[in-house]
Amino acid sequence: MKLLAISGSARRDSTNTALLMAVKSLALAGVDVSVFHRLDTLPVFSPDLEGERTPAVVLDFLARIAEADGIVIASPEYVRAIPGGMKNAIDWMVSRFEIIGKPIALAHASHRGDEMLASLRVVLSTVSDGFLPDVFLRVPLVGKSVGDIEALMREPEPASQVVEFLSRFTAAIRGI
Ligand SMILES: Cc1cc2nc3c(=O)[nH]c(=O)nc-3n(C[C@H](O)[C@H](O)[C@H](O)COP(=O)(O)O)c2cc1C
Repeated sequence: MKLLAISGSARRDSTNTALLMAVKSLALAGVDVSVFHRLDTLPVFSPDLEGERTPAVVLDFLARIAEADGIVIASPEYVRAIPGGMKNAIDWMVSRFEIIGKPIALAHASHRGDEMLASLRVVLSTVSDGFLPDVFLRVPLVGKSVGDIEALMREPEPASQVVEFLSRFTAAIRGI
């Protein structure tokens, strides 16, 4: 099974990206998680660039979504909302096929950000009937360094949270 984990933060030392790296490293046998943390490489969406004019970098990103069995998204909150880069990526998917019916689960690396989460849940349930609002991983990591997060996520409690999240998500994808 292939999962694509998308970070809504393009920050080099992003806690959301670090959480997704922990999801990758704790994945069960037979589950391959790849992490995408470069939403800043996607140009701003315009309907004028749809169809044959869609940029190659966007097509490559959408191909990764198409080939994934499920998508995990971990995003920060910016100004009480979804960060522009994250929403821009979703806008590219809206009138296409890749996201329709694709299982999606949210992870979140902060104890805050509930307005962004509420908005992201509305957006994702609009673009995909595969969105699974009940499969959710939250680990408060705000202010921690990537090294600290790597060490913390090897501790039994957060590690078991990740494993449970992944088992629930993969079971849902398999239709169990
Ligand atoms: C431009 C900007 C706006 C932010 N706005 C909010 C906000 O409205 N609410 C909040 O809880 N945190 C806000 N934050 C803090 C981030 O959500 C928080 O630091 C998050 O953990 C960063 O995620 P990252 O480590 O993956 O980049 C903001 C940060 C930035 C850079």
